[in-house]
Amino acid sequence: MLGIKISLKKTEQLKKHLLESNLFNKEYKIIKQDNSIIFPLTKLTEAKKRQLKKKFPESEFINYSFIPRKKTQNYKDLLLSILQKSVIDELPSSFDIIGSILILEIKPELIEYEKQIADALLRINKNITTILKKADIHSGEFRTQKLDYIAGEKTKVTVYRENNVRLKLDVEKVYFSPRLSTERKRIYKQVKKGENILVMFSGCGPYPIVLSRNTAAAKITGIEKNPIAHRYAESNATLNKTKNVTLLKGDVRKVLPELDEKFDRILMPLPKGAEDFLYLALAASKKGTIIHFYDFEHESELKKGEKKVKSACKENNKSCKILRTVKCGQYSPGKFRICVDFLIS
Ligand SMILES: C[S@@+](CC[C@H](N)C(=O)[O-])C[C@H]1O[C@@H](n2cnc3c(N)ncnc32)[C@H](O)[C@@H]1O
Repeated sequence: MLGIKISLKKTEQLKKHLLESNLFNKEYKIIKQDNSIIFPLTKLTEAKKRQLKKKFPESEFINYSFIPRKKTQNYKDLLLSILQKSVIDELPSSFDIIGSILILEIKPELIEYEKQIADALLRINKNITTILKKADIHSGEFRTQKLDYIAGEKTKVTVYRENNVRLKLDVEKVYFSPRLSTERKRIYKQVKKGENILVMFSGCGPYPIVLSRNTAAAKITGIEKNPIAHRYAESNATLNKTKNVTLLKGDVRKVLPELDEKFDRILMPLPKGAEDFLYLALAASKKGTIIHFYDFEHESELKKGEKKVKSACKENNKSCKILRTVKCGQYSPGKFRICVDFLIS
């Protein structure tokens, strides 16, 4: 098979060119030989060969028996002998994975195959040891979700890693979404040295702990009503050796006024109904406080979040400046989790 050999020093330029011009045969492995690299090539015309040689005169065409790359196997491939192609086509391609637990969302008509599907997923994903399935939607004040066991190790407790932290949690008894890791990063990138931060609705501690481990904030206070989530948050603070996190158990409506404290930054990660708590966040704010208000809004009504903020500020005699509204995840078709960042001015 035809390859092109070039000295190590020129490798990057040649690779970039081959990729851009679709000449790099990605089905085969690159070869390193002494101080040179040999790239496998796709079929190319004599004219293309001349062009390549002109662009990289120090290169050399070479016939080589390249080693094929191993095709990564998909769990659907393992099911081909058991299930019909039409059933396999209906199977999901992405899942929520929290630590070693994979959470399946399975259509009612596929429930009879769930054990085979789960076994295939366990065989393909060596880091997954438990398969659960969604048995309900997130509901209630604690925003938890019933999950049923399907296969693997019988547990609902796992350790999840993101943004330089480890979080232990029971995925059924505590609300947690791995999909928010990028959003947590977006927030910690804004934090300045010495900030005093409040995280309302702190759950098992992802926001306070990620902020603590990735910023030079002075103090971070989390408030959470679900006693199980609060207990996990406390042990996660210990697990991550945080020095500046205080976690308080209880209803934010009762706990926050008792603190009688003003914060530099306030996070409100309760997208369903956080507007009912805006008056509390505003009472704990001062000139210069930045508030991150989460909400669910339809694609066509993304500005509704800002309207909720402005009307709460008006009612509570606060003036604010909207800094931005960002989409930070999809909730359902056409509906998004958004965050309105605003400044108390
Ligand atoms: C959507 S979850 C977010 C949890 C966590 N911040 C996270 O990102 O994983 C909302 C959390 O708010 C808590 N919660 C709901 N109402 C509350 C209240 N009145 N006071 C304190 N916490 C509350 C729930 O128990 C739940 O853990």
